Amino acid sequence: QRCSPKVCIVGSGPAGFYTAQQLIKARQDVEVDIYERLPVPFGLVRFGVAPDHPEVKNVINTFTQTARQSRCSFYGNVDVGTDVSVEELRQAYHAVVLSYGAEGNRTMGVPGEDLAGVHAAKDFVGWYNGLPSCRQLRPDLSSETAVILGQGNVALDVARVLLSPLDILKMTDITQPALEALAESQVRRVLIVGRRGPVQVACTVKEVREMVNLPNARPEMVGADFEGVAEALKDLPRPRKRLTELMLKTALEVPGEKEQQRRSEASHAWGFRFFRSPVEILADPERSRTAGIRLAVNRLEGSGEGARAVLTGEVEDVTCGLVISSIGYKSLPIDPSLPFDSRKAIVLNNMGRVQRAAGLYCSGWLKTGPTGVIATTMNNSFDTARSLVEDMDLGTLDVSVVKPGSQSVAALLEKRGVKPVTFSDWEKIDRVELSRGEAVGKPREKLLTVEEMLQVARS
Ligand SMILES: Cc1cc2nc3c(=O)[nH]c(=O)nc-3n(C[C@H](O)[C@H](O)[C@H](O)COP(=O)(O)OP(=O)(O)OC[C@H]3O[C@@H](n4cnc5c(N)ncnc54)[C@H](O)[C@@H]3O)c2cc1C
Ligand SMILES: NC(=O)c1ccc[n+]([C@@H]2O[C@H](COP(=O)([O-])OP(=O)(O)OC[C@H]3O[C@@H](n4cnc5c(N)ncnc54)[C@H](OP(=O)(O)O)[C@@H]3O)[C@@H](O)[C@H]2O)c1
Ligand SMILES: *[C@@H]1O[C@H](CO)[C@@H](O)[C@H](O)[C@H]1NC(C)=O
Ligand SMILES: *[C@@H]1O[C@H](CO)[C@@H](O)[C@H](O)[C@H]1NC(C)=O
Repeated sequence: QRCSPKVCIVGSGPAGFYTAQQLIKARQDVEVDIYERLPVPFGLVRFGVAPDHPEVKNVINTFTQTARQSRCSFYGNVDVGTDVSVEELRQAYHAVVLSYGAEGNRTMGVPGEDLAGVHAAKDFVGWYNGLPSCRQLRPDLSSETAVILGQGNVALDVARVLLSPLDILKMTDITQPALEALAESQVRRVLIVGRRGPVQVACTVKEVREMVNLPNARPEMVGADFEGVAEALKDLPRPRKRLTELMLKTALEVPGEKEQQRRSEASHAWGFRFFRSPVEILADPERSRTAGIRLAVNRLEGSGEGARAVLTGEVEDVTCGLVISSIGYKSLPIDPSLPFDSRKAIVLNNMGRVQRAAGLYCSGWLKTGPTGVIATTMNNSFDTARSLVEDMDLGTLDVSVVKPGSQSVAALLEKRGVKPVTFSDWEKIDRVELSRGEAVGKPREKLLTVEEMLQVARS
């Protein structure tokens, strides 16, 4: 007469789905409900991963298998914290796992940050990937130079999208409005600015190689930035060594005849700029929009990954009409009762067990902070699921009392006029997107508004 343990997961990105997968696998009796704010699942796999990296999105197949299990249910279009509180979920379920990712952005904290022409990478990425809340962004691509702040893989995604030939982007699931804006783009030169040096970049070698191989674009580096780097190579760990070698080669090696020819014919350029921190976004005379950026010149203190950027007192202005700040995403507290570390922007936890909150867990970027690839997120989500199962097995999490689960939540939502989207509703949206894509030679043409998604879901 034991009832089955009921677990609720908040967020349907990789963290939510991998946590669900592991829970269902580890306990034959557990039932998992996933609540998602948007009518569509998969988080950053849909709204973050670059459109020209379709192979990364294959994880969706695994997530779909999990969602179709009889012990897993999906409730889209439910904003936890607004439509239903974390406390209400804790009442309804034996355990609640928070996996709602990092939906904010770090801020540069410099004057001019809110000028027209300055965007957080999160919003720019959301715009070209069809995130409904970023539909109105309409970035101004009318100037020649764009500056990206930060040198992680997101910065390189943005640089690639700005510089890729349209013929390549046309064959991806990038949104139609983004394609049209990029077709008119005047951006010819993209500078990727970091506060530290070549040995400290956060991006990885595959992504740098994609920049080097961009058709119609030449690298534009500053040779002096690489002083001493060749000598430091031998002490670097292997992945970092390969990455640094590639940058060094790109910056300093005299290219062969064919490559020289290619570079001289390229109409676009990209380059890393090192040892530079933003000081101020400069405005045009009317103070209506971005005209440039003032950068402080840094020197490094220490060496290797832990080296620190220290101001030299010198500054330098760069003319540009577009600034994209790609210095990291940031988790937000969705409920005042959560023990939230606002400095690290994570939920305080111990192996995924939220501190001082029995039955409450977390996984993914909300648990670790906004770094790591999907495989990293998978690992830490499996860890959280293991903690939860261990607590059930040992009895530190009481699953003996009967809990109503989705039944009571459904009643609350109905009272509040919220109509959840099921996984088979999502599959209708999916089919419409795939067929619209097929009609125009793209893998998918995404629906761009919540209204349209809901309309298709309910058709
Ligand atoms: C631009 C970008 C590109 C990337 N590209 C790659 C790549 O090519 N390869 C790779 O391996 N990794 C990539 N990553 C990393 C990868 O996306 C992350 O590791 C992973 O998505 C983190 O998973 P998550 O579930 O914690 O967060 P998310 O994927 O953000 O999922 C969180 C989910 O929670 C939902 N949610 C938020 N708030 C609420 C709420 N209040 N109520 C209900 N639901 C809510 C969101 O809508 C979202 O669906 C990329 C990341 C970014 C930012
Ligand atoms: N293709 C892929 O596999 C792919 C694509 C996209 C994203 N991802 C993953 O998703 C995660 C997030 O990517 P991300 O690019 O957002 O983050 P990230 O890798 O952490 O890079 C952030 C960058 O911003 C800089 N930065 C941070 N704070 C700054 C400040 N106050 N001033 C100036 N610069 C600052 C960092 O420099 P410092 O080092 O000096 O702090 C770093 O260069 C990463 O793990 C990434 O690998 C993977
Ligand atoms: C990022 O988010 C904050 C809100 O926390 C906002 O004020 C800021 O202007 C955003 N954009 C950039 C480019 O940092
Ligand atoms: C994930 O965990 C496995 C096993 O512990 C490890 O071998 C692998 O390197 C981890 N992957 C990432 C990306 O952290």
